[in-house]
Amino acid sequence: MKIAILPTISTSFIVISAIFVAFGWYHIVKGNRETHQKLMLWGSGFALAFFLIYASRTIFIGNTSFGGPENLKLAYHLFLFFHITLATLAGVFGIVTLLHAFNKRFAKHRKIGRWTAVMWLLTAPTGVAVYILLYLMYPGGETKPMIDAILGL
Ligand code: HEM
Repeated sequence: MKIAILPTISTSFIVISAIFVAFGWYHIVKGNRETHQKLMLWGSGFALAFFLIYASRTIFIGNTSFGGPENLKLAYHLFLFFHITLATLAGVFGIVTLLHAFNKRFAKHRKIGRWTAVMWLLTAPTGVAVYILLYLMYPGGETKPMIDAILGL
């Protein structure tokens, strides 16, 4: 089986990022602000690296269409849509969360940061599930321009 190298790297980066965010959350609950800041910045860095790889692959190569059976296509695309929506929202919330932190608006940071962390912690496992469905369980989907692959055309 041919391993899709860029998706493997970018999916690993989401998982690594989520692990940093989980530990970052744990540390702020324990009151370790410095550790929280460091871990969250690492988490943000890996999330950004994921996004850069994903976006450049989408632009230069295209997205991979689902290679599984016809009767799973609709379920897959609904799940993919859920994952993409969650990831995008988490990204936007992440930027706002960081801006609140750097501007020392910690009450707001704390409120929105919880939503950001929860969304990112859901984005990671759903991303891994998409990766498994797309590359491991049903390999062989062709590479298509982004919008075709998302809409299942
Ligand atoms: C995207 C990255 C980040 C996320 C997702 C995040 C998430 C969170 C969450 C969920 C809490 C509240 C914990 C709880 O009470 O359950 C929190 C609190 C806090 N965060 Fe972050 N954080 C991030 C980055 C940062 C950075 C870069 C800094 C430092 C500049 C920072 C400083 C703090 C501080 C000081 C608190 C405590 C606020 C308070 O006690 O009122 N965070 N963060």
